[in-house]
Amino acid sequence: MTLKPPPAADAPAPRRTVLPILEARSLTKQYRMPGETVDAVRGVTLSVMPGEFVALMGPSGSGKSTLLQLLGGLDQPTAGEVLLEGEPIGRLSDSDATRLRRERTGFVFQSFNLVPLMNVVENVGLPFTISGQDPRSPELAGRIREAIALVDLTGKERHKPDQLSAGEQQRVAVARAIVTRPALLFADEPTGNLDFRTGLDILGALWRTCVERGQTIVLVTHDAKAAAYADRVFVVGDGQIQDEIVLGRREDHAAAPLITRLALLGL
Ligand SMILES: Nc1ncnc2c1ncn2[C@@H]1O[C@H](COP(=O)(O)OP(=O)(O)OP(=O)(O)O)[C@@H](O)[C@H]1O
Ligand SMILES: [Mg+2]
Repeated sequence: MTLKPPPAADAPAPRRTVLPILEARSLTKQYRMPGETVDAVRGVTLSVMPGEFVALMGPSGSGKSTLLQLLGGLDQPTAGEVLLEGEPIGRLSDSDATRLRRERTGFVFQSFNLVPLMNVVENVGLPFTISGQDPRSPELAGRIREAIALVDLTGKERHKPDQLSAGEQQRVAVARAIVTRPALLFADEPTGNLDFRTGLDILGALWRTCVERGQTIVLVTHDAKAAAYADRVFVVGDGQIQDEIVLGRREDHAAAPLITRLALLGL
């Protein structure tokens, strides 16, 4: 057996290049309707690194949801491409794209979309049930418990959606989206239907998944107070990324620094 010689003291440290988990290249989306074409997304290029929390922030109609749908593979671009973990998702077959989406991504929307007849544990375990796994197996039951704890709903496991507040229901939706440990979590205005205080609970839950589990998050919001939770904010306007504001990771989520930066940019 030959032993590899130890690296020379002055040898450069092995380079570990971290690749973006998500990339958009010149993404364009046109909605064609009789007598009208809407340019909803107009040449967006961006990348997201593993573990990052980014926000797409912009006014109503600016193309945020369309962009999120393209990034999450829920819709096809008119031109350009999306790469998930380096793989162009547009070139996958429908079944491979569906599998990739199911295994690698999670979604939270403004409406919680919980199953009314199912309790918290059953709702959170739904992704396992759908993929033919037994959510009561010790391993998956443990993961469900962990996701419920992360969104601070321990003790409410047997509650059905109509026995929960709106904010608690949305936290169930967050737990359901992260229980499969997706590489990427997409959230479109997850606090949109909630009052300010309750909205903060949801953002806090998203933030904890990011800090405690290294969850990568793409959050769509029109609200600077929500975007202030992100490490980086893409300012969306008229279907384009108008600016990028790096906030860095902070324990303090005060919106003032972001609002100041936006004002300096004239936004
Ligand atoms: N299915 C569709 N068919 C035609 N036009 C659409 C469709 N979906 C969105 N649009 C248009 O595309 C543009 C961008 O819409 P989008 O929903 O992405 O905006 P948004 O930034 O998410 O807005 P909001 O904050 O109100 O949710 C708008 O002009 C909208 O009217
Ligand atoms: Mg929207």
